[in-house]
Amino acid sequence: MIRRYPNLCIPITIGRVTFRNRMFSTPLGGTDIMNDGCIGPKSTAFYELRAKGGAAAVTVSECMVHPATDGSHAYHLDESILNSLACATYTADAIRRHGAIPSMELSHSGMYAGTYMTDKTKQKGLNQWSASACTRADGVEVKALTKDMIRDIVAAYGHVAGLCKRAGFEMIMIHGGHGWLINQFFSPMFNHREDEYGGSLENRCRFAVEVLKAVRAAVGPGFPIEFRLSGSECVPEGYDLDEGIRIARQIEPYIDLLHVTAGTYQKTFGITHPSMFEEHGRNVYLAAEIKKHVKVPVATLGGLNDPAQMEEIIASGKADVVYMGRALLADPFLPRKVTENRDEEIVRCLRCFTCMAERAATATRRCTVNPLIGREMEGSEVVPAPVKKKVLVAGGGPGGLYAAWTAARRGHRVILCEKEGEVGGILRGEQALPFKYDMYRLAGTYRLLAERAGVEIRLNTEVTPEYVEKEAPDALIVAVGSEPLVPPIPGLDGENVIIVNDYYKHVDAVADDAVVLGGGLAGCEIALHLGMQGKKVRLVEMRDRLAPDANVRHRPLLLKEIDKYVTVHLNHTALEVRPDGVLCRNGEGDNALIPGSTVICALGQRSRNDAVNALMDVAPFVRVIGDASRVGTITNAVYWGYHAGMDV
Ligand SMILES: Cc1cc2nc3c(=O)[nH]c(=O)nc-3n(C[C@H](O)[C@H](O)[C@H](O)COP(=O)(O)OP(=O)(O)OC[C@H]3O[C@@H](n4cnc5c(N)ncnc54)[C@H](O)[C@@H]3O)c2cc1C
Ligand SMILES: Cc1cc2nc3c(=O)[nH]c(=O)nc-3n(C[C@H](O)[C@H](O)[C@H](O)COP(=O)(O)O)c2cc1C
Ligand code: SF4
Repeated sequence: MIRRYPNLCIPITIGRVTFRNRMFSTPLGGTDIMNDGCIGPKSTAFYELRAKGGAAAVTVSECMVHPATDGSHAYHLDESILNSLACATYTADAIRRHGAIPSMELSHSGMYAGTYMTDKTKQKGLNQWSASACTRADGVEVKALTKDMIRDIVAAYGHVAGLCKRAGFEMIMIHGGHGWLINQFFSPMFNHREDEYGGSLENRCRFAVEVLKAVRAAVGPGFPIEFRLSGSECVPEGYDLDEGIRIARQIEPYIDLLHVTAGTYQKTFGITHPSMFEEHGRNVYLAAEIKKHVKVPVATLGGLNDPAQMEEIIASGKADVVYMGRALLADPFLPRKVTENRDEEIVRCLRCFTCMAERAATATRRCTVNPLIGREMEGSEVVPAPVKKKVLVAGGGPGGLYAAWTAARRGHRVILCEKEGEVGGILRGEQALPFKYDMYRLAGTYRLLAERAGVEIRLNTEVTPEYVEKEAPDALIVAVGSEPLVPPIPGLDGENVIIVNDYYKHVDAVADDAVVLGGGLAGCEIALHLGMQGKKVRLVEMRDRLAPDANVRHRPLLLKEIDKYVTVHLNHTALEVRPDGVLCRNGEGDNALIPGSTVICALGQRSRNDAVNALMDVAPFVRVIGDASRVGTITNAVYWGYHAGMDV
């Protein structure tokens, strides 16, 4: 078979273990951890799906090696805990039986132990330990580890590595990056020790080397040990790439695979997990440079979701392995689609951070574009329906497309009608914003998947009660979405006004000075786009904060970008739109003209209630989904769409 991406598909042998291709699954942790630290069954199913999807290695995340000094909410592996070893063994089995290599990440959070603890847990008196004493940004006092404690932690790494091997894991990843304990020893930001663990580079690497020696002693020769290293800490006060290269050379003799990541969780979140404002693969340069200085194979990662780009990375020798995290949440079957030349079917990650925000907010897993994530135990197979039905879907936004695709996979005859000339719903508008282009592309992918599953798509076709009567479907899925809110502000119907959903059609008509009315997520992103084009843009918001509807991970990164490009007017209520700007009442009760020749109205959305009400009673089975039911997010639309398709 001639493979479209041959280099990604070549097996690689690391230590004595052969991996089926070059696409590995990163640690993705933080959920379904039992109270005693055991790996919960949902997590086992989650990792199994990654293996089924074709990844060559699947890394189970963050097993904390030393609970006495690290009370993080993470997995533990401890033979004194009933079930601990069994849960790990079932997890390794679940990965191995699909041909992937199970790997376990061993970690210690050091000073960041329990970062997500509530005040109640903090009061329980858990201590934070690091290379040196300091006060954390949130006020928590951190103590310096004694040499006895260091010895204990090193021994724990070895002990837990031995247990991993016993459980059937065939590779160990030592987490030495992202600002966790080993990184804290490497870093001039955190390590101010004056003994043999501080000062010179060799001394700052001593802890890592001792850990690696203990792990090797436990797992024996030929067993692959991987080291996760931030190639640079990416802040001036941290170590840079030159020092990253020297650290890599210090640890190289003790490892089989060097995994080059970037930055720290606390200080460079949007680089460590490249946000939508960064280039795809923006951290590859770190691996490529370090690879020139070491002989062990090198892995790279960070915002990778395009097979062509990943193929080039391997083909050009920038790295030997590519890791993916979020790309495999969005589509666990990405590696299989690559090996089977079906890459056009890949559902790409949007880098929207719903996954990480949910983890922080509710300790669950969720992905905007993949409704199965976090629910793998409920069954990831779409099974054929016993009775085949005729299903009509009204609306071709993300919700309608996902519902249609799901129903068609169950064997139903599905017709999707979209009243406009193109599917995508609100996502059509994202084509104007380069940082959200993956969101625009999503609709095209869902459309392709739906059509390949047999969905008939009828464009320029509005679903009305009469239309439903004529088609006489057994089931109707109402996915007609929402429309923009345009309040009765004088002048908002003027020629200088563009309504948010139409922005993409009129980008070129926007003057060099513009006002965006409405500082929610949608308004912020349009203002940012205008600012990035060099326009003078002013963002007007009546509340005292921007983008409260953005998730907790995306919001700070968005606000950082807004700071660079946009003038913000909070506590400003629009009174009148004029040809030269928007007259507002400011927080002091005074009137002020916010100047701008074009005004973009981004004041929110409301469900298309009239259309919904007209369609509620026209078929035996009717389900309203997505924004038509409640204005929300793509996550809701896709999730409800999936279940509507399953419930028909
Ligand atoms: C500017 C903007 C930015 C956003 N950014 C994000 C984001 O970053 N992340 C996120 O998660 N969410 C975001 N959202 C919200 C998200 O886009 C919506 O929640 C999502 O698109 C809802 O999907 P849907 O399929 O329910 O409806 P829609 O996307 O609105 O699609 C409904 C479709 O139905 C069609 N239609 C309407 N009536 C009929 C009819 N009678 N017959 C046939 N077709 C009909 C419409 O033409 C439309 O194509 C954003 C919203 C806006 C306005
Ligand atoms: C939901 C989620 C959970 C993560 N959990 C861990 C973890 O437990 N341990 C870890 O080392 N990295 C973790 N990461 C970071 C990823 O392993 C990876 O380094 C990062 O997401 C960048 O890769 P990507 O752009 O391919 O997602 C997590 C990332 C995500 C999105
Ligand atoms: S939630 Fe968003 S960022 Fe996370 S994997 Fe899914 S699409 Fe990517």
